[in-house]
Amino acid sequence: MSKGMLIAFEGIDGTGKSSQLPLLAEYLRSLGFEVLETREPTTGVFGQEIRSLFQDRQRVSRERELELFLLDRRQHVEECILPALEQGKTVLTDRYYFSTAAYQGAAGCDPADIFVRNSFAPEPDLVLLLTMSATESIARIRDLRGETLNDFEQRDQLEKVAALFASFSHGCIVRIPAARPLVEVQFSIRDAVLQLLEKKGIECAG
Ligand code: TMP
Repeated sequence: MSKGMLIAFEGIDGTGKSSQLPLLAEYLRSLGFEVLETREPTTGVFGQEIRSLFQDRQRVSRERELELFLLDRRQHVEECILPALEQGKTVLTDRYYFSTAAYQGAAGCDPADIFVRNSFAPEPDLVLLLTMSATESIARIRDLRGETLNDFEQRDQLEKVAALFASFSHGCIVRIPAARPLVEVQFSIRDAVLQLLEKKGIECAG
């Protein structure tokens, strides 16, 4: 049994996961927790192969794409997440297996089958699902980040991904409306985490 806590940030692209995660990490450290910040796809061999697909998704079959995400996650779980949980750390991951069910589900794989194929991965204590419409997310990717949309961020895909995220009903998911100022979103995130700590009977220094 692991001793630490696992918290995953999920949501469509542009919802602010990568800005919110370090803010939560800093907050949890101020409460005395030892925190590991991590992300998927990883920087490992499979993660690098996945990133090379962002501008050229058609290069591999949908099944191979799914396999690469599963291989990357297996390595992430075995080499990073489980050891950190064993050491009692709080692990914050930017994306986890709900992204696979939503993104590869939107690409035509069966989301229920994807969840089954992820059963090697520990269930998170909390999933912070940042919600936003595809229209808002695309505007943010284009205007705020000044980026063009990669092959995983096309509108029709993102709409399907958002619909799949909306359909998930796992007990560990807390939905956080994310089309709001960064600070307000962060306060909602902290509220959800404090409720988790209370539920688990974990005392903190704050
Ligand atoms: P990000 O680093 O900007 O979050 O980009 C990761 C991209 O990879 C994002 O478009 C979502 C996609 N993705 C999947 O399609 N399946 C997965 O399992 C994961 C973790 C990410």
